[in-house]
Amino acid sequence: MVNIDRSVSPNEIEKQKEYMAKIRALNDAYFEDKGVRRKAFALTLGCQQNEADSERLMGMAIEMGYEKCDSPDDASLIMVNTCAIREHAEKRALSLVGQYKHVKSRNPDLIIVICGCMVVQEHRVKDIKMRYPYVDILFGPSLIYRMPEHIWSRSEGGKRIFDPDNAEYKVAEGLPVCRESSYRAWVSVMYGCNNFCSYCIVPYVRGRERSRRKEDVIAEFSELVQKGYKDITLLGQNVNSYGKDSGFDYDFADLLEQLDAIEGDYTIHFMTSHPKDATRKLIDVMSSSKHVARHFHLPLQSGSDSVLKAMNRKYDFEKYISTLDYIREKMPDVTLSSDIIVGFPGETEEDFEKTLEALSRARFDMVYSFQYSPRRGTPAAEMEEQISKEVKGERFDRLLKLQDSISLASNQVLVGKTLRVLCDGPSKNNKDVFSGRTDGGKIVFFDGELDDIGQFVDVNIEKGDTFALSGKIIRK
Ligand code: SAH
Ligand code: SF4
Ligand code: F3S
Repeated sequence: MVNIDRSVSPNEIEKQKEYMAKIRALNDAYFEDKGVRRKAFALTLGCQQNEADSERLMGMAIEMGYEKCDSPDDASLIMVNTCAIREHAEKRALSLVGQYKHVKSRNPDLIIVICGCMVVQEHRVKDIKMRYPYVDILFGPSLIYRMPEHIWSRSEGGKRIFDPDNAEYKVAEGLPVCRESSYRAWVSVMYGCNNFCSYCIVPYVRGRERSRRKEDVIAEFSELVQKGYKDITLLGQNVNSYGKDSGFDYDFADLLEQLDAIEGDYTIHFMTSHPKDATRKLIDVMSSSKHVARHFHLPLQSGSDSVLKAMNRKYDFEKYISTLDYIREKMPDVTLSSDIIVGFPGETEEDFEKTLEALSRARFDMVYSFQYSPRRGTPAAEMEEQISKEVKGERFDRLLKLQDSISLASNQVLVGKTLRVLCDGPSKNNKDVFSGRTDGGKIVFFDGELDDIGQFVDVNIEKGDTFALSGKIIRK
């Protein structure tokens, strides 16, 4: 087998570091002159992959001498990291960018960066060029490492920069990172997707699959464990493809096994795993591991075989459920979650009822459900028999109703049990009640203390609701 190195060359990264240093000198001079630092604001839409990318964007910004801030009004650098998965995500990104026009008119020195999955699409590049002339810099998700060069060029009075994609699809190592949390962290193991599910824009905007070197993943992971991170999520659009592009005989299960052997008090999560190649080997590694959470997110998408075929998912319900049964057999206390799309083109009432039956059979703890949103350039968007908004809405409501009752039942059986919960702190809506998550990702409300934040606590569950559990801490 050939060893294919997909890294952006160290020289290129070095070059970007030099730009970071030059911008830092400008920002330090500004600080000396004004007594305040220039600030950077990042706004992230979309999935965990984007969250992870934004932590790198902010890492670079800080390296360039900006200070992180929480409001676009205070910023000298705004970075909008967009998503293209559904129409709603794109509309939000455009409306937010629309609002920044006023911020720019108040502060002409402001640099506005737009990046992420939305802006790789040709029609969006055109949109931004024509309708958002105050946006300075645009680049695609595989080119975030070039941000310093672009900011330098723009601050030197250069033209607006449009760098949507170079289709080389490399992996950039060694970028600085500013993590949002001191106890939960993301670690990307691979980028891109080769699956081309017929509804999905991701393969077009994120490019082909490429894996990080295992040495790089292990080094980043070990450092996080050493720093005391408690919950580490391995990310990839389809983690089961890890290593397939590298030419090594080493797959995701091997990686998971090696990471699990690292000593420490932490939990590993991973997402997402495609049902067509969620292997028995992976499930066996999980079930015998010390640190891997007993949580499996396995997107089903539809319970109808003909819809699954039209979606190009490459499994049928029978194969799916046999994988799910195996997971439950090996890990009876597992938490299972899934994604479902309703209203895929051509979905009949009968197809939809099969999805409802599938949910009753699978009994997921949690389901993320979506109404199908046509994405320009994908095969499904061209299919005849698009489903009306009304029918999608009606099916969506029926699905939620059924799943809510299943989720409620799955939470009620936990009453009386003691679960390990990673404490996040006072909850948003009621500061007197703390919230956290179980290894399976369920939200739990409990009587925490400030010292518990970022720590595992044992909570005795007293109540199970549809979307959350509640209980009392057992102090040793
Ligand atoms: N790589 C992951 C999915 C990433 S997108 C996987 O294969 O599981 C997250 C979810 O968004 C998908 O699982 C799907 O349910 C949903 N989704 C993707 N494209 C969509 C579209 N065009 N309309 C509605 N939902 C969509
Ligand atoms: Fe999209 Fe399918 Fe790839 Fe997931 S596996 S990102 S749904 S194409
Ligand atoms: Fe959205 Fe891109 Fe993630 S399209 S869901 S941000 S991979």
